[in-house]
Amino acid sequence: MKNIPLPNTPTLEGNLDKKLLLQVAKEYQTPLFVYDFDKIEEYFNQFKLAFSGRKSLICYALKANSNLSVIKKLASLESGVDCVSLGEIKRAILAGIPTYKIIYSGVGKQDYEIQEAIKLGILFINIESKEELLKVESIAKTLNTKARISIRVNPDIDPQTHPYISTGLKENKFGIGVEEAKSLYLYAHKSESLEPIGIHFHIGSQITKLQPIAESAQKIAQLLHSLLALKIDIKFFDIGGGLGITYKDETTINPYDYAQSILECLRGLDVTIICEPGRFIMGNSGVFLTQVLYEKISQEKRFVIVNGAMNDLIRPSLYNAYHKITPLNPREGELAPTDIVGPICESGDYLGKNIALPPLKAGDILAILSAGAYGFSMSSNYNTRPRCAEVAISQGKARLIRKRETFEDLIALEKDYL
Ligand code: LLP
Repeated sequence: MKNIPLPNTPTLEGNLDKKLLLQVAKEYQTPLFVYDFDKIEEYFNQFKLAFSGRKSLICYALKANSNLSVIKKLASLESGVDCVSLGEIKRAILAGIPTYKIIYSGVGKQDYEIQEAIKLGILFINIESKEELLKVESIAKTLNTKARISIRVNPDIDPQTHPYISTGLKENKFGIGVEEAKSLYLYAHKSESLEPIGIHFHIGSQITKLQPIAESAQKIAQLLHSLLALKIDIKFFDIGGGLGITYKDETTINPYDYAQSILECLRGLDVTIICEPGRFIMGNSGVFLTQVLYEKISQEKRFVIVNGAMNDLIRPSLYNAYHKITPLNPREGELAPTDIVGPICESGDYLGKNIALPPLKAGDILAILSAGAYGFSMSSNYNTRPRCAEVAISQGKARLIRKRETFEDLIALEKDYL
């Protein structure tokens, strides 16, 4: 199979070229998220192609970007989804994802969520603890059915990424150690209300080195072998998400190599591979547009104050994450180190620090790149700021996929209690 990887890097080209983005900013105003739906398709297909030698199902991690139109686009490409709340499951169904392609993960599922997930007949629930396994069993029993489950195994391997998004070490709250997992599989196998059909691991996000993933897959495949020897019929090998993208100049993993390293571990095993990419599909398919309000030189430091803020894109503030920043109206002049900051009353409210930027004027538009994943989905109304509008561009045509919130929206659930 031929695989020509599309570099997953931040670029302003195609649907996201500067001219088109300027038009979009003018039409829909800023701050604004803009997604390139053709790129979503390319990244998705790149993943699909990488795994096409085997039975596989891509379950897009909805948390990266859960806009209904994004999900609908992925549904049209035959994607499944990985959800972490009943809300996400409902979004997925609304946008056209069949229930048999939905998996449900997360350490803190509530009773009503488990009940609904079982009733809906989703593919399986990823179990994160013994307590949860027993809970799922008892709920399935009262529903007089069998719940399909998979166990998230914690391989205790360092993914070498930001500590906040590392999940596969024993000190993390996620998953179950290999030995305990084995005994839980045995328990589930004997239960009349549980059907263990999958095995799962996810060691972290924005992983740029293959080694930890390959090692984890090896470890989990060993466990899989021992389960099969016990006649526990595991059909799905769920490798989670986590593939990194380029934000700045990181070299990341090519999906083809990723797939090969997984396939190697699965030689001789008849299982369907499930992967849960989020960032890989959405990160570099989206940009965040914001407008310059003021330039302020304070004690020799240059600040550019923009109308977008940490409530819109929290990654820089929360993880000290780097996002490339490019002005859409290029001006002649020297580059100077600049902090790009928002209107929120916190010093941590910034989109970029010490970024070399040319002269800028009020009204200029800046594109913050690689903002398609964990951008809007992590946004909030802090400082009573309405959340942004979202726009999709496909084949050069832009359309609104989420209206900008209004002040009325923000107070809707409070105003009747005055
Ligand atoms: N599967 C599970 C079980 C997950 O917990 C996650 C992400 C994914 C899949 C998708 O991972 P991805 O392919 O997107 O790396 N807010 C952080 C990222 C948190 C990721 C949480 N889990 C950020 O902005 O970097």
